Formats: sequence, structure tokens, C-alpha cells
Amino acid sequence: MDQRIKKIVILGGGTAGWMSAAYLAKALGDTVTVTVLEAPSIPRIGVGEATIPNLQKVFFDFLGLSEEEWMPECNASYKMAVKFINWRTPGPGEPHARDLNGRPDHFHHPFGILPEHEGLPLSHYWVRDRHRGLTDEPFDYACFPVIALMDGHKAPRDHDGRPVTNYAWHFDAHLVADFLRRHATRALGVRHVQDEMVAAHRDERGFVTSLATRSGACLDADLFIDCSGFRGLLINKALAEPFIDMNDHLLCNSAVAYALPHDDEKNGVEPYTSAIAMKAGWTWKIPMLGRFGTGYVYSDRFATQDEATVDFCRLWGIDPEEVSGHLNHVRFRVGRNRRAWVKNVVGIGLSSCFLEPLESTGIYFVYAALYQLVKHFPDKRFDSILADRFNAEIETMFDDTRDFIQAHFALAPREDTAFWRANKELRLGDRISEKIAMYRAGLPVNPPFSTASQYYGSFEVEFRNFWNNGSYYSIFAGLGLEPDHPLPVLMHRDDAAESARHLFERVKREQRELPGALPSAYESLRLLHRT
Ligand code: TRP
Repeated sequence: MDQRIKKIVILGGGTAGWMSAAYLAKALGDTVTVTVLEAPSIPRIGVGEATIPNLQKVFFDFLGLSEEEWMPECNASYKMAVKFINWRTPGPGEPHARDLNGRPDHFHHPFGILPEHEGLPLSHYWVRDRHRGLTDEPFDYACFPVIALMDGHKAPRDHDGRPVTNYAWHFDAHLVADFLRRHATRALGVRHVQDEMVAAHRDERGFVTSLATRSGACLDADLFIDCSGFRGLLINKALAEPFIDMNDHLLCNSAVAYALPHDDEKNGVEPYTSAIAMKAGWTWKIPMLGRFGTGYVYSDRFATQDEATVDFCRLWGIDPEEVSGHLNHVRFRVGRNRRAWVKNVVGIGLSSCFLEPLESTGIYFVYAALYQLVKHFPDKRFDSILADRFNAEIETMFDDTRDFIQAHFALAPREDTAFWRANKELRLGDRISEKIAMYRAGLPVNPPFSTASQYYGSFEVEFRNFWNNGSYYSIFAGLGLEPDHPLPVLMHRDDAAESARHLFERVKREQRELPGALPSAYESLRLLHRT
């Protein structure tokens, strides 16, 4: 008997819904029919999203879509790092990224892995030099050639469009959903039903059998994907899977968002996301052509909506009265479902898990879940080990990222407001505590990788080592936490430390030479978008 899954229904047509539709239709071919049930009246949330580099390889390349095809349709721009501003001390935020005494207060978390020397990442030679008083250069400027491109507002691709470094994208998530809807319905045979779900029918085992809609239709399927957003209509409502709230790790639960016009010709387009620390949270800045998306993510325990709005408007020099009708106020839940996949329902996107967007992981969580779903794809027997393994992968992915984000707040030296002080009181998980202890003892936090391609080429390798050594170093060192001492064995290796000089010199040389060889981000984007 043919046990194959024949029908999949996806509930919800936001970014997660259309990413899921395109990906599953492509992965499973015409042996399966994929239907998206999208309620026209329910607004989508996503605008101005930031991503990470493997989006192209793992998602768009998989669909056979090049950057030239999708970027212009989604108002996409380039991103090479997250720049953290005022995370050590209070300050004006923008545009100078300084503290109140005029000292620089910013650091980058760039993409890419650190160059390696004699089996150790460059970070460890930096620590050794630092300890001996041989350098006072910050970690990012000492170890990453691409920093020069951030400051120079350069593109990560040369005049012929060839990439010179790892980069990701900012885009308008509404446009990505629309683009993928067109692609999925035209090229991949996905059915689009515009209607609202009113009930989920279930069998005696509790498996969902079909969804009844407002106009009287009934959509049956073997497998249901819940992309209904924070409400989790199938996974939380119909199947009553509990949501594990993680506000005991992360305090922020609200945001106020807006889009501001920007003079790109005069100021250039910043090829990075900014994360500006505030009194009760932080503000994102996502540059796109002609405007930037921004939002203040805050904790409603430490700022009322009005207070947050006033501070947010002050940051950008806008009048709260004038823009009040255009501000987007969002309240979000932080955490994940106990299980992402229950019976024949898989939650993907906000219905499954959510973290504040500090490290641009929202879209990644969607395609990482899709990759794992295809890897663990069931047949009609629904062997429970498949869901168990899938759930274990999602849990580790999510909880490790939550810990990493919590570490940003826990290690930030700021204690000037109740919010920043409260963050120091929260308990850190065991795994992140161990990583911090390793870092302090001079050990690499994650195993080093010998070549960049090994890391960025394989999703399996990358998935397991998602937060690589360079990520931990960028944040820990950037926030001002330095190892107590260099890796002890390195003190026996003066020869290696000596020859590592060449690597540091190469970083400096590239920082001098790269910017001149590249177009500005603005020029490059205008060409791409043909404006
Ligand atoms: N492994 C991820 C990457 O380099 C880590 C990552 C996620 C990251 N979000 C980031 C790195 C933001 C820099 C900035 O793609």
C-alpha cells in the first residue's frame, strides 16, 4: 500500500506560509499537492527583516532563484554585520555611536568565520597580544577585513557582481511573501485558497483531518503546517500544545515600529543592521533603498507604550504627535511550543517559536525548520521517532539562540536603568554559562573550522555550529568581556604567535585596499534595482 503523504495544507499565507509552500512543493515535487489557506482579512506582521548569508544557498538556490531574480522584487539591500551601538554605556545612539563622554561605543558582529593559524582562530592571538599590551585595537577591527566596508558604506560585491565576502540581506517581508506566492502558484503548482478557517476537524487519535472554512469549503490533508502566526490556531488552539514562555530569560515583549525616509545619495546606504541599546530594550535599524525600517523592542515592565514611543521618536528626531497614526505597536510572545511537531501538525514561524530579532534569526528559523521537516519527512504511518528527532533539533536550535541573545543583555556593562539591572538578575542556562567559562579560560567556544567553505557550504555543519567562535567573540569581546588570560598552551608557542603577525597584517592590508575596489552599496543597489 502506498503510504506516501499526498496532501499538505498550510494554514496562513505570511512570510512563513509562502516560504513553506514554495520549499515543500519544490522538495516533494508533484507527488504531493500543497494548498495554502490564507485569510485575506488577517494582516501580516513582517516588515523590514534582516537575514543571514545561508538564506541564498539553503533557500533561494534550492528553489532555483538567483539574487538578480528575487532581490529587485523584494526591495532587498545588503547586510554584512549587526552593528551594536551604546551597549556598554548610554549615549545618543545615532549618528555618532558614542557614549555621553564622546568615546566610541559600538562594535560589529560580522558574518564569516575568523581566519585560522596553527589550528587556532585569530581571536586567540588577538587575546594574547592584548594581554601583553601589544594591541589596543578592538576585536572586530583587528580580526575582520570586512569592517572597512561597513564604515565606507560599500557593497559586498564588486563592479561585476562577484561577491568578495559573506553577506546577507535586508528586505521587506511583505514583498518576499508576495514574490514567493507568485512563484509557488505559477511555477510549483501550489493552490491558493483565500478563505478563513473556522474549525479544525480531528479523528479519534486527535489527528487533524480537515479544515472547515467560512465559505463552507472543507480542506482535507494528511499533513498540516501551522503558519497562523502568534495565535497558533492549529498547534496551540486545536491541539492544545503548551507554549513555553521564556520571559524569564528575555524581558522584551513589545515593540513600536516605523519606517523613515532616508537620503541615500547624500548619506550612502549602510550595509549592516544596527542594534541601538535604549533605556528598556534596543532599537533596530534596517536600511533599504530610500528608507529604513526601525523599531524599538522593549519590555512593558520597564516602559509604558507612551514612554517607549517618546524615547523612540527622540532617537530619530521625529515628533510623536505627527507620526502617531503611522506607528506600528506590536506585542509578542517569547518562547517556543513544547513540541514544534505534534501528531500531524507542524508549526513553522511565529506559531512555533519567537525571539526578539536581535541576531536576525526569524527567517532563518523558518527555513531551518523546513530543512529539518524534509529531512524527517513522515509517511502516513507517522513514525513517532521522526517527530521526536525533529522536535529535538528545533529545541536545541531555539534554546541555544535564546541563550546567546540573553548573554548580550547579561554581559552588557550597562546598569543605568532598571531594565539593564534586571537583566543581570536573570538566570543563565547551563550551556551558555559553560561557554562563557570556556571563553574566560581562553578556550575556543566552538570547534574551529579550517576553511570558510566547509562551514558556509554545508547546512548540516552550519546548523550544528550556528553560533561559531567568531560570533561568541564578537559579542563577548565587543561588550567588553575579555578572557581572564590567553589560552595557556599558546604561551608555549611564541613561534606561532610571531607568525600570526602576517595574518593581522593581511587584515590591515585588505582593510586599506578593499574599499577602493568596490562600488558603494548605494550604487550597487541602484544598478540591481534599476532605479
Ligand atoms: N552562523 C550565523 C552566520 O554567520 C550566525 C549569525 C546569525 C550571525 N545572525 C547573525 C552573524 C548576525 C552575524 C550577525 O550566518
